[in-house]
Amino acid sequence: MSTKSGEAVNPVSNRKSGASPLPQFSDVRVLVVDDEAPARNVLALVLAQIGHRCEKAANGEEALRILEAMQTDVVISDLQMPGISGMELLAKVRQLYPHLVFLVVTGTDDIQVGIRAMQEGADDYLVKPFQVDASVVSTSLARALHKKRLEQEVENYRHHLEEMVAEQTQQLREALREVERSYEHTLEALGVAIDLRDSSTAGHSRRVFLYSIEIGKAMGGLEHELKNIAMGAWLHDIGKLAIPDAILLKPGSLTDEERQVMQRHVQIGYDLVKGIPFLSNAAEIILGHHERCDGSGYPRGLKAEEIPGGARIFAVADTFDAMTSDRPYRRALPFAASREVIERGAGKQYDAHVARVFLSTPDETWQEIRRETAAIQVFSVAAADDIQALSRLVKPGS
Ligand SMILES: [Fe+2]
Repeated sequence: MSTKSGEAVNPVSNRKSGASPLPQFSDVRVLVVDDEAPARNVLALVLAQIGHRCEKAANGEEALRILEAMQTDVVISDLQMPGISGMELLAKVRQLYPHLVFLVVTGTDDIQVGIRAMQEGADDYLVKPFQVDASVVSTSLARALHKKRLEQEVENYRHHLEEMVAEQTQQLREALREVERSYEHTLEALGVAIDLRDSSTAGHSRRVFLYSIEIGKAMGGLEHELKNIAMGAWLHDIGKLAIPDAILLKPGSLTDEERQVMQRHVQIGYDLVKGIPFLSNAAEIILGHHERCDGSGYPRGLKAEEIPGGARIFAVADTFDAMTSDRPYRRALPFAASREVIERGAGKQYDAHVARVFLSTPDETWQEIRRETAAIQVFSVAAADDIQALSRLVKPGS
């Protein structure tokens, strides 16, 4: 009689044990470890009777050598041995071969030792002298092998589950990354649309975004804030999409009334973005991007620490970009001129620490960013038709 997995079932031993049917395992290699040759030989004989192949070792050291050299399924070891004791051998085998079945052999008067061995990881214990009836050894062995087989199946199942979880986690991660990419594309299009609405500041959003990240990184300790700072800088003028062309694109200076309308872009931008969970922190930067440390900014006239840190970083990046970019009414000013303005304004309009970090950054860093953004701008202009269509969609009254 055999099971699905090919294990032969021994109905006799099952009836004798009175337990639920146990499969009998064939082709099992057993290593018997005992310093007493007669005990070793008796057990080997019993095992041969029930059809198992058997190796013998006279001590723990020899047992470890055999285990290293030969495929073995079961170790049956005496506990009282010179050299490595049975308990020490058990610990070693559990460490090196955790899937091996390990039975210990005890005398009739030290069953407690057998129980302790099971607590230490033995699968069962046999009592010496062995009964002539091999079914005791057979049943014990079958039970231990069956238990090990079940443990292995549970282990395989757990491993399979872990693989499934890892695979699904990876799929989820990819899906999230895909969503993130979609966000990034949408935000990128919005940033380009903002710049295209105000053609006098082409590439401005991208540059202040990169300048702000550079300053934030150089300041240190803002690793968790960088994304918000970047998003705030990128979308800072999103409210301008709602400012009428007549004011936004007016060539001359604005009247007081027009200026008031223009200044509303910070509140409009904030209102647009604040309800989007992953942009809620960036919204604070949008609202505060025209605030100045000396309280001369708008819309709330906040001072110093009252202004969100990201907005204070942005203020320096924005001034630097405004001065070093061409405008319809003037050519770009040299870096040195903008550095001078920021140095003079440190601790007044600009946060002193942010200004210091900016001023300690070499010009090459800013030049590199300008070169990179100029190259991207060529692409953006090529896509201008699409972006302008998007801009018209989000612009009210057009
Ligand atoms: Fe603005």
